[in-house]
Amino acid sequence: MAQPPDRLEPAAAAYPKGPAILIAAIAALGGLLFGYDTGVISGAELFFTKDFHLSPGGEELAVSGVLIGAIIGAAVAGQLADALGRRLTLIILATIFAAGAILTALAPNVTIFVIFRILIGFGIGAAAVVAPMFIAEMAPPAIRGALVSFDQLAITVGILVAYLVDLAFAAAGLGWRPMFAVAVVPSALLAIGMFFLSDTPRWLASRGRWDEAQRALARVIGPAEAEKELHGIRTSLQKEEAIPWIVRVRELLRPGVRWALIVGVGLAVLQQFVGINTVIYYAPTIFEIAGFKTASTAILATTVVGVVNVLSTVIAIFLVDRLGRRALLLIGAAGMMVTLAAIGFVFAIGPSKAAYFILVCVLLYIVSFAISMGPVFWLMSSEIFPNRLRGTGASLSTVANWSANLLVSITFLSLLHAAGNAVTFWIYAFLALLTLLFVWFIVPETKGKTLEQIELYWRSGRHWVEASTAERELSKQASGADDANS
Ligand code: BGC
Repeated sequence: MAQPPDRLEPAAAAYPKGPAILIAAIAALGGLLFGYDTGVISGAELFFTKDFHLSPGGEELAVSGVLIGAIIGAAVAGQLADALGRRLTLIILATIFAAGAILTALAPNVTIFVIFRILIGFGIGAAAVVAPMFIAEMAPPAIRGALVSFDQLAITVGILVAYLVDLAFAAAGLGWRPMFAVAVVPSALLAIGMFFLSDTPRWLASRGRWDEAQRALARVIGPAEAEKELHGIRTSLQKEEAIPWIVRVRELLRPGVRWALIVGVGLAVLQQFVGINTVIYYAPTIFEIAGFKTASTAILATTVVGVVNVLSTVIAIFLVDRLGRRALLLIGAAGMMVTLAAIGFVFAIGPSKAAYFILVCVLLYIVSFAISMGPVFWLMSSEIFPNRLRGTGASLSTVANWSANLLVSITFLSLLHAAGNAVTFWIYAFLALLTLLFVWFIVPETKGKTLEQIELYWRSGRHWVEASTAERELSKQASGADDANS
């Protein structure tokens, strides 16, 4: 007998998980580069600012160049990944990362430096779309949350490694150039790894390469399950043709699917508006204001932030397919709201004796982010959009994410100055409250659903249906559209 919709359990663990894990780990190198290349700047900044004799404006441009490049990269990534395939796009991006690493390290002046940082930013922004999408389209539904969250884990490891590499090269007196050059290693690994993988079953199917799609699916979920899932993909892709970008965007704005876009872009903006990168990029500044007087204790505290970020993301990987996306988002948003409000409170009454209290609050804030918005935004952005609109939808939400990141990063210091430390953190606390409400009222639970079921959830007015019904319905809707078109 059919199971009731809410208790749909995917066929779990009937196949070895090793291949899926290996594939996800290779693609997640894209996340590692994202983390490394955004994290490396904090330690390198001190050195290149001196070498290039930068004014504060020049310094700001050198730091935010990567974010500008990332917005452009995210904007074109969906198109590239749809046209060239996820695999080839990731290979090209790995080459860009490698070239960017070497060229930035060799930059003779600040103009060239900024140009290559924008190039690296392009790679980061595009990889932020394509790497999680590659994993989501490869992953068995039962462990998709955990596998896509590998990408976020890799981002946090990348940030931590960047802090440590910065410290090591600074201590050895080698300056900023080798700090950037090191990124060539994971870039090469990503290119080589992707070279040996096939593209995702969903992209191959969209090109009519059904045999390859079948083989790619069978590698991760076994032949029997592959046959079933291929059937679902076939119905969801029935209407696939070469569709111009603008038509896809219009489709994303149609009633029904529009909600996927609202969830994707909403989570994207809120992920940044809760202020995560004020901590990740400016942790030493916050700890200095909090009363850690020497630069070295502030940097040590920053390293602790990096470690806690990684460890909490590991916890999220274990929880995301068990507790589900919504539970993690709600717990995390509540945690961020309380800790941000507490930091604001301590700043309001005068932080002189409360440096350690602020450190604890910042760490709890990081835990709250890392078990929720950190991995879950990237996960949902790669799973909530219908197959044929996934590239465009994920691109749009990622552009929103990087734009919000840029906005927060360039306004944080001025906000501290204009509104004061306490009010600044209360503003972020308020945005965490908005996040809580947004998740509570709008974000659906996608745990354990196939990508095709999620697609039908939007198309049928935000109601869940079983996998088999999803297929029938998608097929009916596709032939309905055929009739309407003819
Ligand atoms: C965010 C980044 C942030 C990182 C911190 C990512 O999910 O998109 O902006 O720096 O998490 O771990």
